Amino acid sequence: MCGIVGYLGDGNTYEVLIKGLHRLEYRGYDSAGIALVDTKGKLHVYKSKGKVENLENMCSGKDLEATAGIAHTRWATHGEPSDNNAHPHYSEDGNLALVHNGTIENYKVLKDALVKHGCKFHSETDTEVLVQLIEYIRLGNNCSLVEAVQEALKQVEGAYAIAVLEKDKPDTIIAARKSSPLVIGIGENEMFLASDASPFVEYTSNAVYLKDGEIAILKKGEPLKIIDLDNNNSKVDVTKLKMSISELEKGGYPHFMLKEIFEQPNTLRESIRGRVVDGGKRIIINGVRDNKETFVNARRIVFVACGTSWHAAMVGKYLFQDICDIPVVVEYASEFRYSNPVLGPGDIVIALSQSGETADTLAAVKIAREKGAFVFGVCNAVGSSIPRETHSGAYIHVGPEIGVASTKAFTGQVMVLTLIALSVAHLKGTLPEEEIARIGKALLDIPEKVEKVLKLNDKIERLSAIYTYAHNFLYLGRGCNFPTALEGALKLKEISYIHAEGYPAAEMKHGPIALIDEEMPSVIIAPKDHLYDKIVSNVQQVKARGGSIVAIVTEGDTVIKNLANHVLEIPEVPECLSPIVASVPLQLLAYYIAINKGKDVDMPRNLAKSVTVE
Ligand code: G6P
Repeated sequence: MCGIVGYLGDGNTYEVLIKGLHRLEYRGYDSAGIALVDTKGKLHVYKSKGKVENLENMCSGKDLEATAGIAHTRWATHGEPSDNNAHPHYSEDGNLALVHNGTIENYKVLKDALVKHGCKFHSETDTEVLVQLIEYIRLGNNCSLVEAVQEALKQVEGAYAIAVLEKDKPDTIIAARKSSPLVIGIGENEMFLASDASPFVEYTSNAVYLKDGEIAILKKGEPLKIIDLDNNNSKVDVTKLKMSISELEKGGYPHFMLKEIFEQPNTLRESIRGRVVDGGKRIIINGVRDNKETFVNARRIVFVACGTSWHAAMVGKYLFQDICDIPVVVEYASEFRYSNPVLGPGDIVIALSQSGETADTLAAVKIAREKGAFVFGVCNAVGSSIPRETHSGAYIHVGPEIGVASTKAFTGQVMVLTLIALSVAHLKGTLPEEEIARIGKALLDIPEKVEKVLKLNDKIERLSAIYTYAHNFLYLGRGCNFPTALEGALKLKEISYIHAEGYPAAEMKHGPIALIDEEMPSVIIAPKDHLYDKIVSNVQQVKARGGSIVAIVTEGDTVIKNLANHVLEIPEVPECLSPIVASVPLQLLAYYIAINKGKDVDMPRNLAKSVTVE
């Protein structure tokens, strides 16, 4: 949540920052702002409510000359979205400008103290307190900006990634992080900073991921310096980025979401690349192989995740219980972290997160480690915080996901969880080798099967027109497709703002059935699996009450075809893989309904992709 970007160098500072903000807009789009310094000692701050394009309009014709600058795109936490609450915030004397991603928990105490000392505040944000405090310390102690930042951060509780600019220092930016991501890019005669590497990937592939408690000093003509709050030097660890610019662009699609839906055959190939060998007979997940004993002797698996990742974890529960005989619980990371989780040696905590930065999931990982569990991460963003805090893990390798509604990350997560479960089943001997080989072979065919599902695109687009103006939807599924139903409902809610509820199909009788009438469509995920006959009854129960039904069925199904108003046929796959193929038509259905309603699918209201606040 909130994206920050900074630039120092001989290039066009304004352009680099604006382009960077667009790349980070998935992190929030309530307001955007920019602070620029030039060699004449002028500090210009421009900010505007709404998306980055509003900021661009406001900046046209303004003095944009600069040697250094910082910028911000906001997801509001403290204070409504407004010009005033937009970042950068500046110190009262106009000497410093600061951008911030995170939350300052003790801002009220600090603010009250500063007000007593005569500071005047101009916004309702927690962030303003940081910049005012830094300047108050700098003036009071007559110290350097770095010293003031160190002192201020010692007084601050909460999470932050910040960048600070000083009016008379057009050659320097100071940045720091704790619990919010920050990465520095090192180019030729230029340096960048950003919440993730996407704003500078076309300028340099040299990245330095800042660690908690570190302060980076970016100074023109000098190598990057990293110190901690007590002035100890830290090692500058340069990582080579593998991201490409084409991954960050729409590639001819009208929206990132549609592009990402259509990328899934390829992203699924990437998720299994090198991991399914001998035609499917062997599954290799390094993190499992290297921790064989831990997985074989696990007494329990606890999944922690949020949002779509939580739904993928729910699929994982069915997988691990069915094929590995390991008891599984799935926890919302935000609940887990405050629930006194009873954990210890023998427990494996698997943290799922596309971004690898979700604040609650990261906190859950830290707690699980403290309690002695073995912590395994399943993430997408390489080098992000969660993979760095876990004992081991497996990346899903689906490339940058930019659409706020997660699509390819979900199928990638389910795929990688399936691979992990199969390799554990092999080690434990809980699944016959022939069965592992059968599923392994089917895994290799999944990208092609998803390609086939994507051919339903035009049919789904037409179908969406019928359901665009429904006010409520029910999504029903059983077994491992109960989470598919949850995910389908979430997609619809997120981008079309239609209320949708995901439910276990049989549980529907205990409440939601009361809602069913001709105005409330039910989307029922009903592939041919061991619960097929049961779900046929559930379809009948909906039909008997006059509800209209869209059913996701296995190719060639005739029974449900006769009951449902519309069916979308998916290819036959082993049961444990069906959430991957069944979720794709649900993504398309949500997409087209939102488009029909004229919604901004890539930037749905109130949402952000990387939730770095609690
Ligand atoms: C936000 C996003 C969701 C995502 C969730 C968890 O709510 O909008 O798409 O599923 O965060 O994010 P993570 O990066 O941890 O998977």
